[in-house]
Amino acid sequence: MMDLELAGKTAVVTGASRGIGLAIATELIASGMRVGAGARTLTDGLKTSGAVPIITDLTAPDGPALLLDQARDELGGVDVLVNNLGGGGETEMATGFLDSTDREWSEIFDLNFFSMVRTTRAFLPELIQRRGSIVNFSSMTARIPHTSPLAYAAAKGAVSTFSKGIAEEFGPRGVRVNTISPGPVLTEQWTAPGGYGAQYAAARNVTVEQVLTDIPREMGVTTGAFADPRQVAALVAFLSSPLAGAVHGADYAIDGGAIKTV
Ligand SMILES: NC(=O)c1ccc[n+]([C@@H]2O[C@H](COP(=O)([O-])OP(=O)(O)OC[C@H]3O[C@@H](n4cnc5c(N)ncnc54)[C@H](OP(=O)(O)O)[C@@H]3O)[C@@H](O)[C@H]2O)c1
Repeated sequence: MMDLELAGKTAVVTGASRGIGLAIATELIASGMRVGAGARTLTDGLKTSGAVPIITDLTAPDGPALLLDQARDELGGVDVLVNNLGGGGETEMATGFLDSTDREWSEIFDLNFFSMVRTTRAFLPELIQRRGSIVNFSSMTARIPHTSPLAYAAAKGAVSTFSKGIAEEFGPRGVRVNTISPGPVLTEQWTAPGGYGAQYAAARNVTVEQVLTDIPREMGVTTGAFADPRQVAALVAFLSSPLAGAVHGADYAIDGGAIKTV
């Protein structure tokens, strides 16, 4: 097994009670890191993951400071920040832009974009001091917006731009910043009652199982399959590693070939 040279380092992962975030926490722990896991609820998966749960709502203005304070207390410092938190837009997925409301748009921007802006601002002094790194979660929909609710795609577009700008400003101060843009990944975002799968199914009058079978191809995923959260987590571990020391300001697609442009 490749040694990623992460043993003894620390990470904070946002949105880590399930899905991709929980898989990331699990992977980083397996690589020898100590991990603070941010979420609003303490799930069974999080309880048994070995991560330190940090229960806070990151859309609340004081959420990021609370996350940082507890992470410092519990871990002694933070080397890697993974801004994984995001999602939303299920209602618009079923109905379309004209039925979307200001409230839905601001909720989606709060969850996907402003939580990242505030969390990054809170953690940067710590990361500058420790010459740490950041991995931010965008989505392939930032580059192919018709594959998702528009508010979500637009918020992820803002994430990609933000991430690149932070890389440029803070790279010279020793902080490495990269972005991951997944295609469809099989998590509760798709499978939960009221999630993307259920909303698509209701709009088309088909079963959720049918939607989950059809969606990757419909979204142009060349492999025809959802990604597994563990595959995304492995990419996060690599980008967090000193072995990725020359990878900076990059935006990694993990989308089964859905983005067709070079
Ligand atoms: N799944 C996909 O197909 C896909 C595709 C492209 C990009 N992505 C991106 O990948 C990331 C992870 O997606 P996922 O599918 O793993 O999502 P998920 O299964 O819906 O999990 C979201 C996580 O965020 C936490 N969370 C939600 N609201 C929160 C809040 N206000 N404050 C703190 N924590 C909160 C949730 O826990 P609590 O509810 O307990 O707070 C949960 O741990 C997101 O940025 C998403 O946009 C996903």
